[in-house]
Amino acid sequence: MSFSFKTLAVSALAVLSTASNASPVHLRRQASGNTTIVYTNANGLNFTQMNPSLPNVTIFATGGTIAGSDPDSSATTGYQAGAVGVESLINAVPLITTKANVAGVQIANVGSEDVTSSILVKLSKQINKVVCNDPTMAGAVITHGTDTLEETAFFMDATVNCGKPVVIVGAMRPSTAISADGPYNLLEAVTVAASPKARNRGAMVVMNDRITSAYYVTKTNANTMDTFKALEMGNLGQVISDTPFFFYPPATPTGKHVVDISNITVIPRVDILYAYLDMPSDMLYNSVKSGAKGIVIAGAGAGGVSTPFNSAIEDVVNNHTIPVVQSFRTGNGEVPLSDVSSNTSTHIASGYLNPQKSRILLGLLLAEGKNITGIAEVFARGTDD
Ligand SMILES: *[C@@H]1O[C@H](CO)[C@@H](O)[C@H](O)[C@H]1NC(C)=O
Ligand SMILES: *[C@@H]1O[C@H](CO)[C@@H](O)[C@H](O)[C@H]1NC(C)=O
Ligand SMILES: *[C@@H]1O[C@H](CO)[C@@H](O)[C@H](O)[C@H]1NC(C)=O
Ligand SMILES: *[C@@H]1O[C@H](CO)[C@@H](O)[C@H](O)[C@H]1NC(C)=O
Ligand SMILES: *[C@@H]1O[C@H](CO)[C@@H](O)[C@H](O)[C@H]1NC(C)=O
Ligand SMILES: *[C@@H]1O[C@H](CO)[C@@H](O)[C@H](O)[C@H]1NC(C)=O
Ligand SMILES: *[C@@H]1O[C@H](CO)[C@@H](O)[C@H](O)[C@H]1NC(C)=O
Repeated sequence: MSFSFKTLAVSALAVLSTASNASPVHLRRQASGNTTIVYTNANGLNFTQMNPSLPNVTIFATGGTIAGSDPDSSATTGYQAGAVGVESLINAVPLITTKANVAGVQIANVGSEDVTSSILVKLSKQINKVVCNDPTMAGAVITHGTDTLEETAFFMDATVNCGKPVVIVGAMRPSTAISADGPYNLLEAVTVAASPKARNRGAMVVMNDRITSAYYVTKTNANTMDTFKALEMGNLGQVISDTPFFFYPPATPTGKHVVDISNITVIPRVDILYAYLDMPSDMLYNSVKSGAKGIVIAGAGAGGVSTPFNSAIEDVVNNHTIPVVQSFRTGNGEVPLSDVSSNTSTHIASGYLNPQKSRILLGLLLAEGKNITGIAEVFARGTDD
């Protein structure tokens, strides 16, 4: 079976044509795609209902499996792209309109492996503009394919910091599967984004009844629904009977670096190199030659690389001024600085950040114009030495 995640159509999320008892604030009109819009706010967000006593939530759609389809209702792999529009998905969740007034924004329409850093910059700026800077908005939901969901979530956690919840959600089963998880996940995501209890907790991933920190959470299983976990840090809370419960008051991840995205337009290229037995050093130089401005190593164990590769890292850092961050390929754990070198002027340890999260952070730090010393300082705040 071949996967076909490309262009899984999350067709206009502006099509939230669910039934509503709310009184229209503006004249009702039909928009493209069978959408009934009853209210357009100052930022051009289109709401399908406007009940002034309900919180307002914007759903930003990027695409993803959440709208996948297959004639075989037991299929959870190999399903067809784009067969089911989000309209049907949303229409299957009329309860959303009891939680919030929802507006949809189509930011992109791609499978999660086709999300680019320019989409992330655009998405973050949009959220800052139409959610953070608008006192009538409670929060934001991002629908996303699950494969790179944790990277987008980490990026939003670093760059959207106004206290309003940003909730990233996806689905592991196509919407035509028996017990598809998309509709319930979406309902829970909107519920969390609308909740005052969810404020000041950074970006969060809500899936499979779990609320997790976007800073720490990772996809741990390629197929199953219970895939998003922060293995050491645990969950922030749960959604039970469509009510969020948080285990602790709001907290900020140790070492979290906050980025002001407003002047950032381009994220420099950062490569990830996966370490293995006999790994040749020329991979590092190939990355530099290909234009990488930073490199992350998915090191064996706690950032480990061979002796020749270690010398190559020192050369690349000191002679090419390319920062190299050593992370882990184990899926879990910490890289302390003492494990990669006693020489802290050259080596950067990722702490608890896995390679893909380290890559997002390094790209943002380069975009901020930080030098290697400044980059090392930020990463050092997330390590134990
Ligand atoms: C528009 O919505 C109505 C009512 O839900 C439905 O019967 C009709 O098939 C829809 N039309 C299109 C083009 O989706
Ligand atoms: C709102 O609807 C109008 C037309 O009905 C459309 O031009 C505009 O792009 C929509 N806004 C968003 C954010 O999708
Ligand atoms: C939702 O938005 C409407 C329209 O801007 C506003 O009147 C209302 O107060 C908002 N709801 C909340 C709970 O802020
Ligand atoms: C963004 O650029 C403007 C204009 O140059 C400047 O005033 C502002 O301080 C910059 N903001 C940040 C966070 O660098
Ligand atoms: C930096 O380059 C010089 C000259 O090419 C070389 O001798 C030196 O070993 C390099 N430094 C490192 C840390 O590899
Ligand atoms: C640490 O690395 C820098 C840059 O390569 C070098 O100049 C310095 O001698 C090294 N220090 C130690 C203690 O190895
Ligand atoms: C590098 O950045 C650090 C801290 O951000 C700063 O103190 C230092 O002056 C910078 N070094 C150079 C050579 O620009």
